[in-house]
Amino acid sequence: MLIRRERPSDTQTVRAVTAAAFEQVEHSAPPVEPDGVPGEATLVGWLRDDPGWVPELSLVAESGPSGAEVVGHVVATHGRLADRPTLGLGPLSVHPAHQGRGIGSALMHTLLGAADATGEPVVVLLGDPALYSRFGFVPAGGLGIESPDPAWGDYFQARTLSAWRAEYAGRFRYAASFDRL
Ligand SMILES: CC(C)(COP(=O)(O)OP(=O)(O)OC[C@H]1O[C@@H](n2cnc3c(N)ncnc32)[C@H](O)[C@@H]1OP(=O)(O)O)[C@@H](O)C(=O)NCCC(=O)NCCS
Repeated sequence: MLIRRERPSDTQTVRAVTAAAFEQVEHSAPPVEPDGVPGEATLVGWLRDDPGWVPELSLVAESGPSGAEVVGHVVATHGRLADRPTLGLGPLSVHPAHQGRGIGSALMHTLLGAADATGEPVVVLLGDPALYSRFGFVPAGGLGIESPDPAWGDYFQARTLSAWRAEYAGRFRYAASFDRL
């Protein structure tokens, strides 16, 4: 398996992988396009045109029989924490035929390492603590990071990085594209 930045030629495959991954998820975002793909697949396309897009942090995993098939994707984009650009992670997708082999974990570790290396203070996400605590995510509220939606409770999580400072706490808002879903 190889993890690398996405290239323009990956766009359609990333969309297909995201759609296939979220078609399995009971509470995926409702479709917003006539072809009925889950909203997360549309969101990835919107995010590429969003001011919060960070090209260094849209990563793909290559695997498969040919060794060069894109089978997974993760992206983090800049929302805002109080008045500061801050990374929100998602969607994270691994094609169902390739799940359970460590690809999602490799994408997550690579993204967190890249974000730390570029001086980002923190990454937030909405997801199951059972899955994300192994990557160092904790309930964001404990760090003073307020969720965009209080109903998310401990599912709104944060992973601090080397540049984190307690005074950065405040209310988080995702990149505007998330509000279109
Ligand atoms: C979540 C996802 C990216 C994990 O990818 P993966 O390549 O299967 O992950 P890994 O093989 O690295 O496994 C990581 C661990 O997470 C667990 N896991 C996978 N999905 C999980 C979920 N929804 N909730 C809790 N744990 C989960 C796996 O069982 C595995 O645990 P183990 O090592 O103790 O067996 C993939 O299952 C997927 O694309 N799911 C659909 C889309 C989705 O839910 N994305 C995340 C929310 S944005």
